[in-house]
Amino acid sequence: MLVLAFVSQKGGAGKSTLAANLTAYAASDSKAAIIDLDPQASISSWHSLRESDHITLLTSHPPLLSKQIDKLAADGYDLCVIDTPPHNSTAAATAIKEADLTVIPVRPSGFDLVAVQATFNLLGENLGAVIVNAVPSGTAVQEPAIEFVKESGVRLLGTVGQRIAFQHASNSGLGATEYEAGGKAASEIKKIWKAIESIL
Ligand SMILES: Nc1ncnc2c1ncn2[C@@H]1O[C@H](COP(=O)(O)OP(=O)(O)O)[C@@H](O)[C@H]1O
Ligand SMILES: [Mg+2]
Repeated sequence: MLVLAFVSQKGGAGKSTLAANLTAYAASDSKAAIIDLDPQASISSWHSLRESDHITLLTSHPPLLSKQIDKLAADGYDLCVIDTPPHNSTAAATAIKEADLTVIPVRPSGFDLVAVQATFNLLGENLGAVIVNAVPSGTAVQEPAIEFVKESGVRLLGTVGQRIAFQHASNSGLGATEYEAGGKAASEIKKIWKAIESIL
């Protein structure tokens, strides 16, 4: 079973959005679960909007996480995605420890890049990779962010645009690949998924 943790110490980076979208895509041909470690429960509310879902949702606390993951693996799950809260390094560190890969979304602005260093520090020797998220179209604002990630020695999974489709999809409990299969948001999610597979 592949375990992915979505971590950034900054709120609003896109952890829950990308966790939901990548899980919804991967779940089309695999047995997938999401563990919601965030008391804000974004993933839980997204999941509650889904109809007849085949994605299993579990809520959790750091001390429970390891056993829940063992149980999912024993139950034949292919994928377990962990969504984490910002500003809680215990939850983040626990998720990082359990994950095969920690996905770190970062928005392409100076303040966000400064803040992401705290998340890189939490990563330690564990495998991590960045998604530069919510890049406005028609700009080159992602370039300094990409440069920053490269210099930090953490891998880059790719960039995802600032797209209204992500918001529409979230509001309906969908991933972009379900909401608008042929859209740009969907194609970015598929590309990021490929990049994840190529790392592991
Ligand atoms: N690529 C994107 N395009 C458009 N809106 C986005 C994108 N990524 C995130 N958002 C929006 O930004 C807000 C914060 O994202 P969220 O996933 O909740 O961040 P986090 O879980 O890291 O706190 C949400 O309203 C979400 O819909
Ligand atoms: Mg969140």
